[in-house]
Amino acid sequence: MYPHPDIERVLFTEEEIRTKIAAIAAEISSDYAGRDPVLVGVLKGSVFFLTDLARALTIPARLDFLSIAPFVPDAEPRSNPGVVRILKDLDHSIEDQDVLLVEDIVDTGLTLRYLLRALGARRPRSLHVCALLDRASRRLADVPIRYRCFEIPDRFVVGYGLDYQQLYRNLPYVGVVKSGIFRS
Ligand code: IMP
Repeated sequence: MYPHPDIERVLFTEEEIRTKIAAIAAEISSDYAGRDPVLVGVLKGSVFFLTDLARALTIPARLDFLSIAPFVPDAEPRSNPGVVRILKDLDHSIEDQDVLLVEDIVDTGLTLRYLLRALGARRPRSLHVCALLDRASRRLADVPIRYRCFEIPDRFVVGYGLDYQQLYRNLPYVGVVKSGIFRS
């Protein structure tokens, strides 16, 4: 069934996501021409976006991943923003590397601010952000996003990597979930 029965509305279809990623990848390939940036993905939400983005680039790129978790493991992510810890660190040093931090969504910006500080302290040559989704209306921290695919309204979204209680990540589109599925 399309969309999934728990999805109220599809915001971005597979086709729209693919088209936008191709455009952003062309921009990144041009900006980083002659360099081989490290794409740093934040597990697990950015995996689908990062792998599609990486394949659309025309420059060499390396991949590394880190995993973060809120301090309250089962809390709904929007209820305790910005309080994160690194569960899995990068495999390689980023010192003197051109780092592109690939994020699924920037909401309050608190997670991204934490990550930028943590990675910036490792003295990369450059550090920029590429985000699939930007919900600027809820921003609490002023964070620089160099590449963004889509701005979204203030609704909780899932799909294409984004989850609600670890579900819906594998939907190939981004959609708004029906409010009835939220558990307290
Ligand atoms: P922040 O508020 O910008 O710190 O967002 C932190 C994290 O919350 C994101 O990286 C996502 O993992 C999660 N998040 C925020 N909004 C949503 C959403 O609409 N759907 C799924 N996860 C979300």
